[in-house]
Amino acid sequence: MLDIIDHYPYLSYEDKKLLIQQIDIESLSEDKKTPFFLFLPKRFEDNVLEIKTKLGKSIPNLFISYAAKANYLGKILQKSHKLGLGIEVMSLFELKLAEKAGMRLDEVIFNGPAKTSEELNYAISNKIGHLNVESLNEIKEIESIAAKHEIVQNITVRIHPKLSEDTEKRLLIKKNSKLGIDFSRAVKLFEYAKKSPHLNPVGVHTHVGTNLTSHDFYDELLEFLNDYILDLESKLEISISEINLGGGLASKSTLEKENFQIDKLGKQVSSKIENIANKTIIFELGRCLIEDSFIAITKVLRTKKSWGRKWAFTDIGANTLIPMRYSHYSAIPALNKGKGQYTNIGGPLCLPVDILSEEAVNFEIDESDLLIVLNCGAYTLSMSEQFGYPRPAIYQLSEKGIDLIKPADDLEQMINDSFHLN
Ligand SMILES: Cc1ncc(COP(=O)(O)O)c(C=O)c1O
Repeated sequence: MLDIIDHYPYLSYEDKKLLIQQIDIESLSEDKKTPFFLFLPKRFEDNVLEIKTKLGKSIPNLFISYAAKANYLGKILQKSHKLGLGIEVMSLFELKLAEKAGMRLDEVIFNGPAKTSEELNYAISNKIGHLNVESLNEIKEIESIAAKHEIVQNITVRIHPKLSEDTEKRLLIKKNSKLGIDFSRAVKLFEYAKKSPHLNPVGVHTHVGTNLTSHDFYDELLEFLNDYILDLESKLEISISEINLGGGLASKSTLEKENFQIDKLGKQVSSKIENIANKTIIFELGRCLIEDSFIAITKVLRTKKSWGRKWAFTDIGANTLIPMRYSHYSAIPALNKGKGQYTNIGGPLCLPVDILSEEAVNFEIDESDLLIVLNCGAYTLSMSEQFGYPRPAIYQLSEKGIDLIKPADDLEQMINDSFHLN
């Protein structure tokens, strides 16, 4: 069961103690209040560099951006900027975070099915680089804002592509979902934009899933996109210079487990897309870069037996480790005491969904033990709720030790906020 750490090169057991980047987790945690999160900048950087290098070998013009919604902690956005990533945002809040992290607006991709007038005005007047649209009325609003500023706004249309019924069944974002616009109706948006003096339709965008681990899926998607773009170019005389393939790749450790090869994905893109030298290929990756760059450290508060099953209750719960269809939380012990009775792990909340995973673990667990939860980086902090408890502190691991990068919520302040007191 603990062989899971084989896919996490930063973890190892020595004398039964779990080490992270060669540092003993128990001693790291000694003077810290649990639960807390630990951001691993080195792992994040390795993930980014691997993706950039492997895709960059086959794709001449590559623009990788980080999907802020996956985890918009300031340190991660700053690190993304330093590593030369762009950023994908879905709201004015995320856009302003991107600016605060030092990003220029031409490096920003703005998505969302219903952006507000305030958001569109801010983005366009500040020269947003990549604006994805998905309705005719949104295009018309963008056109009038661009006209007011006497500019020509580049736009990219988010389509839902034509995929086989089998593929559709496996996707998170299916063809009748609220996101994107069906590929045939999207042609009307391209036509409209092409005729407008204030719009320039430069690209096609698609994002249909998360935790993707299938090369076949990409073959199907890329073949469709290539034909679709050739049609736009020949029938509407629109020159497409950007293809945004969205996010959706599984984390690096999951890709490894599933034998998905990033360099093969690069080759798939370059072999399926004609005239690739004249196109920028964009990815907006969240989970792939951040999911396994974050761990949580939690203490076992209580154990019990019920209906023949052993339970261990940790001090971290589903208010921060949000239970989602694609979550991959896995607990391992800070001190390996050997095999024990199968144990289900749950959080402290009075909610039946507050369980770490459906799978029981078979290592020895006692009250007061420290557990490490892997794969906590994506869609946890950004979606977290207080729900009865303060949100945990976040630290960052450096060579010297760990530094606080976001304090835990303050219990007294939470009480005052509830009564609107200072
Ligand atoms: C438009 C868009 N792009 C990118 C992403 C990032 O997806 P992932 O974290 O699966 O890479 C999302 C996530 O919801 C999204 O909605």
